[in-house]
Amino acid sequence: MEKWSSNIGFLFAAIGSAVGLGNIWRFPISVYENGGGAYLIPYLLITFLFGLPVMIVSISGGELTESDVVTTFKEIGTGQLGWVIVAAGAAILSFYLVVTGWILAFMAYFAFDLSFTFQRLTDGYIPVGLFLLSAVIVGGIVLFGIERGIERVSSILVPVLFVVLVGLLIYVSMQPGFMRGVRYFLNPDFSVLSDTELWIAAFGQAFFSLSLGAGTYITYGSYLEGKSSISKMSIIITVANIVSAIIVGLAIFPLVFKYLGNPSNLPSGQELAFTTLPHVFAEMPFGNLFGFVFFGLLLIAALSSGISILEVSVASGMGRGLSRKKSALIFGSLVTAIGLPSALSYSGANLTLGGKRIMDIVNQDIGNLLLPLSALIIGIGLTWVIDEKVTDFSFAYLVTKYLFPVILISTIIAKYI
Ligand code: PHE
Repeated sequence: MEKWSSNIGFLFAAIGSAVGLGNIWRFPISVYENGGGAYLIPYLLITFLFGLPVMIVSISGGELTESDVVTTFKEIGTGQLGWVIVAAGAAILSFYLVVTGWILAFMAYFAFDLSFTFQRLTDGYIPVGLFLLSAVIVGGIVLFGIERGIERVSSILVPVLFVVLVGLLIYVSMQPGFMRGVRYFLNPDFSVLSDTELWIAAFGQAFFSLSLGAGTYITYGSYLEGKSSISKMSIIITVANIVSAIIVGLAIFPLVFKYLGNPSNLPSGQELAFTTLPHVFAEMPFGNLFGFVFFGLLLIAALSSGISILEVSVASGMGRGLSRKKSALIFGSLVTAIGLPSALSYSGANLTLGGKRIMDIVNQDIGNLLLPLSALIIGIGLTWVIDEKVTDFSFAYLVTKYLFPVILISTIIAKYI
């Protein structure tokens, strides 16, 4: 059985998983589309009240069973249910790799001073090729295993990520007009708080951002050695995740505000980073350098999260007797196949379903509800079905067992009534 070389190694890998496209690409958009600063209230509440407890229970569950997600669910007597979790992760990873491809394209854009727009890029088939390349990179890292692959890569990338983020924030904060952007980012519109749509979005975003519901923590927890201080480590992961998202918001909004003027006419949705930010960087002094660094940051975030999702399925394959190599090959190919329609929906093929690009459906419609629901399955499995009490931390246990299911289900019911 593979193990982390130390708890610190686990921490870097887990923070690497949490801090991803969700923080840098999805979070600012999510704040922007959901009424600005007021959105932070449900977001923080859900993160600490529900996200953190489910994380503690998930890591503890993995440490206890010392097995992959599929085996864990089998052992607690729920048959093949673990595959649902594996599938949820695969859905996330499938569009994650598409975005990783776009990131690679824009790194080249700034490095070689190319000139194309997001629109023109996605009119052709280069994004599909870069999607495939991203799958190969992520698969390649996972192939090297826990200690030599995931842990080593995360221990290098995560510190770099935070240093660059803080540097970016310091630079932006010294620019004139910084406070105007900050006020815009944090400007609360409290009227939105009664909107159940907002709470569902916040649930989706918080769980996505914390990497909950995809089996990552059960899997990463299974590589922990003996008794580790799981609650303490979970708090560190959660805080690092929030802090990075807020730094990104604080850095991005002032830049957009300063160089593009009134942000109320911004294109929203997933194109924000890929259409708006290149304009911002084009206006800035040393824009190519900034652009390259920013998209490099996105790449680091994307890779360290992508590997954590793939590892869930690869570990499950290994639990069925496959070698790591075979399992990585099989699940890497499967995820690529699942992601292909998403990749094609932002290419010359323009694949749509009911007038909507497949990628948007997977990211927004499925992405928002899927992870809270699969986190619910994990939470119920590890508190109601399992015979043992997975964690001594009663707050986390009780919240995951009672409060989280009740609140999540009532929020969803409220939305549909
Ligand atoms: N937490 C990652 C992000 O914020 C996404 C992710 C989801 C990673 C689920 C692993 C599992 O981008």
